[in-house]
Amino acid sequence: MVVQNKSGFREAICIVTGAASGIGFELSRQLFAAGAVVIMADVNLAEAEKSAHSIESSMTRAIPVFLDVTQKQQFEEVLRWAVREYGRLDLMCNNAGINRMGDARSIPSQDWEQIIDVNLWGVVHGTRAAYAIMAQQGFGHILNIASGLGITPAPRNVPYALTKAAVVGLSESLRIEARDLGVGVSVACPGWIQTPMLDGPSGHRHGNRGIKRSIGSIACRMPFGIMSVSDAARTILRGVSRRSPMIVFPAYMRIFHWVYSHFRLLTDMWNLQEIRSYRRMSQQSALESQERRHEIALNTPSSNHSKWMISLDAADSQ
Ligand SMILES: NC(=O)c1ccc[n+]([C@@H]2O[C@H](COP(=O)([O-])OP(=O)(O)OC[C@H]3O[C@@H](n4cnc5c(N)ncnc54)[C@H](O)[C@@H]3O)[C@@H](O)[C@H]2O)c1
Repeated sequence: MVVQNKSGFREAICIVTGAASGIGFELSRQLFAAGAVVIMADVNLAEAEKSAHSIESSMTRAIPVFLDVTQKQQFEEVLRWAVREYGRLDLMCNNAGINRMGDARSIPSQDWEQIIDVNLWGVVHGTRAAYAIMAQQGFGHILNIASGLGITPAPRNVPYALTKAAVVGLSESLRIEARDLGVGVSVACPGWIQTPMLDGPSGHRHGNRGIKRSIGSIACRMPFGIMSVSDAARTILRGVSRRSPMIVFPAYMRIFHWVYSHFRLLTDMWNLQEIRSYRRMSQQSALESQERRHEIALNTPSSNHSKWMISLDAADSQ
């Protein structure tokens, strides 16, 4: 009952998914620093190994493991292995997540499916497997990382918001069921956090420079800037120590959520501006790449046209 008995995370046996990067890495680093054993699970094993090694060169208390959270059986095996090896499971952090930003119309269905598989099914598999173990132990804590975009509308992030709202629903309801069995459940709803996710696949796949500019413009308008990943992990772990049901941060996210709950028209107006300016930027970006194509076509001998067009298409999808 290490997490429950207010002794902090000392000697807690923790599993963090998506631990190779961003919030998952920082949660692992801070849990390790607090004296926990951290199993750092990620689909990118090479990165998980590098990350674990950067925390502890011997990798005896920061242990990298391969796990694709979309694979239920794999998930169950990792948890069973952890319990066999360490005798119990104190904290399960379902953190792994992906996003593809864009106009909902232009997000291909395989991307919707992938987002749902990782962000929702990944959390369902992790929660179910950990809950079974923890209920039997009579103690333990499940931490699900949702998002502020799961409790407020999120145009340009429709599939992502779908999964994050579902994770909030899952966590809030399970929390009540789990309480009498000695199992705690918290859900974190962060606002924008400075991690590779902000300039990762979201920016690359759907709208390239338009989206990057859009994120930049959001960052500029955040009254306190984008929160650092170490502050985010600290806030989340403080919430877990206090057994907070919902960890909503930074303050602007709590304010935004309050305004949305009481004066929806105001947040709708703000969001409408966001989607309109996003569409303008995407259009501008499409026009720019069309112009680039035209310029190159004019300056390229005709036999080389198709080769140039292929390389431009590749560049645009970066
Ligand atoms: N960065 C933000 O602004 C922000 C805001 C709110 C919520 N979140 C949430 O926080 C969590 C972590 O995000 P981040 O910003 O640190 O992202 P990140 O991209 O830095 O890290 C995500 C990690 O998840 C791993 N991953 C992806 N698919 C996986 C799979 N199938 N199985 C196992 N691991 C997988 C990746 O390899 C990567 O290491 C996500 O759930 C995200 O939705 C992030």
